[in-house]
Amino acid sequence: MVSDIPKERVLDNTISVLAEGYQFMSNRRIRLKSDIFETRLMGQRAISICGEEAAKLFYDNDRFIRKGVVPKRIQKSLFGESGVQLLDGEEHRHRKQMFMSIMTHERLHDLAQITKRQWNARITDWEQRDKVVLFDEAEEVLCRVAFEWAGVPLKEEDVEKRAIEMGKMIDAIGGVGERYQRGKNARIRSEEWIMGIIDQIREGSITPNAETAAAVIAFHKNQDGKLLDTQTAAVELINILRPIIAVGRFITFGALALHDNPDIQTKLKTDHGRYGLMFVQEVRRYYPFAPFLGAKVKESFTWNDYEFKKGTLVLLDLYGTNHDPSIWDHPENFQPDRFADWKESPFSFIPQGGGDYDRGHRCAGEWATINIMKASLEFLTKQITYEVPEQDLTYNLIRIPSLPKSGFIINHVKRLS
Ligand code: HEM
Repeated sequence: MVSDIPKERVLDNTISVLAEGYQFMSNRRIRLKSDIFETRLMGQRAISICGEEAAKLFYDNDRFIRKGVVPKRIQKSLFGESGVQLLDGEEHRHRKQMFMSIMTHERLHDLAQITKRQWNARITDWEQRDKVVLFDEAEEVLCRVAFEWAGVPLKEEDVEKRAIEMGKMIDAIGGVGERYQRGKNARIRSEEWIMGIIDQIREGSITPNAETAAAVIAFHKNQDGKLLDTQTAAVELINILRPIIAVGRFITFGALALHDNPDIQTKLKTDHGRYGLMFVQEVRRYYPFAPFLGAKVKESFTWNDYEFKKGTLVLLDLYGTNHDPSIWDHPENFQPDRFADWKESPFSFIPQGGGDYDRGHRCAGEWATINIMKASLEFLTKQITYEVPEQDLTYNLIRIPSLPKSGFIINHVKRLS
């Protein structure tokens, strides 16, 4: 028996996504009393799904493909037009293997060490400043981290400019008008510049270590045995650099969580075990970043008595799944302890996508993110003390991507020991 999917009677809901942001899907789930509903977005029929079982379905490669899903506007700003996010099947697996080969245990350890060193190098300057906007600093520090770790040369005088360009691409995710245009222009400039770097690596005038992302990507060969074309190589190298800088948003939310929960701060100061990781996981679960993902039905099938017709756009609610009360006890409370006895599942906790890293589209940089966050939040709790002056720390769930309004200002920074 096939059931009707609860439906909104609207011509098109694209405007509502912009107006309701992270809550677009949960608002309709509540109204329609259903974890699955049908709507219309960007002129096409779309099915929205949420929850652990939904994520399991969404990451079934036999049922969904990504080709033709990411809107051109996202390709032109956030992702680039020839990156791994847009591939399916063998082509995806081969390209994804390139990314996963960069994420070895040793390289992730290097990433944490570089992160600690780059944060520490900022303390003397901060001690002399009246105020420090943590988010702005995080983007710059992580820009240094990203380029150093990835083996891409970066002149001191270019750090601020490159951090701002990468930040504009990230900020364009849910942007229209000027915000989108800024992201698009930043992508054009960054791709051009990184294409020059790829050429120089291939010619031998820049020689990054063989294990760095720059070298791996510049010399990666497609299944046909040919090097990636220069633009695709640039897009993929930016797929490493840009998201490392994006982690600055999670770090800023982490600082907010510390401020709002002094008891957690005290625990972290003395933690030498798992609590740091539990805190990072809760920051990634609780605060908003990636809202939802899209895929298209490969061949028609029926799931839970609902019909999914070939070619239909299906959206998985990431934010909603991370706040789903059937998975998380009191999801609106910030509680790192919930991760103490968490029954790990690749489908219930999906701030950076779900499923399998190698065979699916799950974020290649999830452990890189965790390592950067752990190192950064350890720095904030164990290397310095600071005060948090009066400011607007609210963040809204309508703007994608979100951030505390003030960017999290700190002052009276002092080095510890
Ligand atoms: C994919 C989120 C950090 C590299 C993704 C996806 C999401 C995501 C939602 C899509 C998953 C899917 O399509 O199923 C995030 C967030 C981050 C972050 C919120 C932290 C702020 C990173 C980092 C790197 C990275 C640090 C690299 C160093 C990638 C790559 C993909 C990806 C290469 C494409 C994977 C594929 O299509 O197979 N990320 N990510 N991300 N991420 Fe991340």
